[in-house]
Amino acid sequence: MTQTYEEMDAIAMLKADHRKVEDLFEQFETASGKAKKQSLAETICLELKVHTAIEEEVFYPACRGKIEDDLVDEAYVEHDAAKVLINEIEAGGPDEKFYDAKVKVLSEMIEHHVEEEEKRVEGMFSQARSAGLDMDALADEMRAHKKTATAKFQSGKSAQTTTFEGDSGVAA
Ligand SMILES: [Fe+2]
Ligand SMILES: [Fe+2]
Repeated sequence: MTQTYEEMDAIAMLKADHRKVEDLFEQFETASGKAKKQSLAETICLELKVHTAIEEEVFYPACRGKIEDDLVDEAYVEHDAAKVLINEIEAGGPDEKFYDAKVKVLSEMIEHHVEEEEKRVEGMFSQARSAGLDMDALADEMRAHKKTATAKFQSGKSAQTTTFEGDSGVAA
């Protein structure tokens, strides 16, 4: 990739995050040693918490009303389902019986979710591009949010689910 992170538009940024997390999941699969696995799993969880935060705070609200509503609703619910596992993985450790299984299932959930976002034509990013969203302005906003989200989550804040709280949590 020749583009720097600062030059990317919103979709390029989000896709770069997706590729990064896919690579980390692959490393987890082949990693041996509990310490290595735990450090990879923790990096994955941090990356996903930041990524879901910038999508939920900036990108999804910008899509709302401009693309298929069901797609946006499902994206929030998929994030929340992933966050349940993320919080469990962070609270647990590699000595736990289901640790590897949780990371594996999380990777499968994310794979499906990324497909829904990146799918050609009917995917969320495609629809957002066709709807004419300002991807450069959104990228600037997401870069700013990414800094604050990273600081917040690096200091140990867990992922917060929104849709499981009922209607109050989500921008309708
Ligand atoms: Fe995403
Ligand atoms: Fe997403």
